[in-house]
Amino acid sequence: MKIAIIGLGFVGLSLTSVLASKGFNVVGIDIDKEKCRSISNGVSPFFEPDLEKTLKKGLKNKLQIESDISVVQNCDLIFVTVGTPQNKTGAIDLSIIKKAMNSLGKSIRKSKKQHTILVKSTVVPGTMKDVILPILENNSKKKAGKDFGLISNPEFLQESTAIRDTEFPHAVVLGGYKTKFMKNVEKFFTKLHPKTPIIITNHQTAEMIKYANNSFLATKISFINQLSNICQKIPGANIDDIAKTIGLDPRIGKLFLNAGPGYGGSCLPKDMKALIKFAKITGVKPTLLNAVEDVNTKQLEEIISIAKKKLGVLESKKITILGTSFKPNTDDIRDSIAIELIKKFLKMKVKVTVHDPRAIENTRNIFKNKINYSKSISDAIVGSQCVIIMTQWEQYEKLTSKDFKQMKKKLIIDCRRMLAQKQLDTDYYAIGIGRE
Ligand SMILES: NC(=O)c1ccc[n+]([C@@H]2O[C@H](COP(=O)([O-])OP(=O)(O)OC[C@H]3O[C@@H](n4cnc5c(N)ncnc54)[C@H](O)[C@@H]3O)[C@@H](O)[C@H]2O)c1
Repeated sequence: MKIAIIGLGFVGLSLTSVLASKGFNVVGIDIDKEKCRSISNGVSPFFEPDLEKTLKKGLKNKLQIESDISVVQNCDLIFVTVGTPQNKTGAIDLSIIKKAMNSLGKSIRKSKKQHTILVKSTVVPGTMKDVILPILENNSKKKAGKDFGLISNPEFLQESTAIRDTEFPHAVVLGGYKTKFMKNVEKFFTKLHPKTPIIITNHQTAEMIKYANNSFLATKISFINQLSNICQKIPGANIDDIAKTIGLDPRIGKLFLNAGPGYGGSCLPKDMKALIKFAKITGVKPTLLNAVEDVNTKQLEEIISIAKKKLGVLESKKITILGTSFKPNTDDIRDSIAIELIKKFLKMKVKVTVHDPRAIENTRNIFKNKINYSKSISDAIVGSQCVIIMTQWEQYEKLTSKDFKQMKKKLIIDCRRMLAQKQLDTDYYAIGIGRE
């Protein structure tokens, strides 16, 4: 059996590397030739723990990397993992996946194989039936369900644990008609993940499961952030003890209750927006989803208001941001809250210096020479009037009073409560902790 994966981003390259490292006959395809060159040499275009190690193992097993999609003709299973970003209005932008499906359809037109196409990209309900299926049928001149299989297979991995999540997913969702293609794919996944529940449903439900998943996670984050703001007004109250305790209740669960500057990253913000837009189209008023987004947007204002309260007008003040990636152990800054904060500070003419162990180059690509970049934490802090810890990189846990000695004004805003247990000789504010 030969497997193709179209789109070698976080999802596609993780899947490609894991399957190839396990000995499957895999071809990874990406439209970006430069990316393909780098991946073929065993170098990942982005940072993800364990990815390069797994990729190199895959390459030793004869993993093939191509920029020409026509190689799918020889493949039995074809996974589609291209991006589905948001457009200017916040709605889902299907242009990338439509283009990929056009070329995929044309590529399988003359092939004799009975391919099964699995779409891992996140798409709003109805996309498979109303958009993807007709594009594939028109371009291939073949019939879905008879000549080729079409299955929704949403992905749930998290960046920073993408390899582990790909090897051991919590669930496999297969959406589509109960055809021979579905039966074979079910067999494939049962062998690949013997302990993982497999949910077989229709396309629209599979599509909706992904949005249900992400919007629930966003809701948990906004919930704890709202409570953390209340805690800040109660002298001595601590959001972490509250989160830890409610997380012990199995009905609630402990994950995604880490109060902070708001949710960011390549998935939650865009998927929330897409779901809100989609809900409106269906005629449902997304009251709760709107509130979740609203809390998230206001969380950043909370941080800025602490800085303003302590420093007055922020123009010309030197502020240091520690962490620009949307979470630790990744260099991904897509929709990162730290990036939003820097944009707001630049509008206020703040002099911004940033440090991040992995994401400096990506940050530089956005802000060029509008801000300062620092390789060391100590250089980033010197002469600063305010340090804001945005990302929970473990490096920042080690900071002590000594590190802040050379600040011009010792204001620390710790969005992750990383230094909350330390006796600091600074003016220290932590999101979610009420000052006594
Ligand atoms: N990143 C995550 O954590 C995550 C988790 C779950 C689901 N998802 C979903 O999975 C999908 C992919 O996400 P990602 O973060 O991996 O995206 P990404 O933007 O990092 O990668 C997409 C890749 O597809 C390539 N591509 C675009 N058009 C192509 C074409 N016609 N042919 C071949 N390659 C093409 C791009 O060059 C890019 O390398 C999205 O729908 C996303 O919402 C992402």
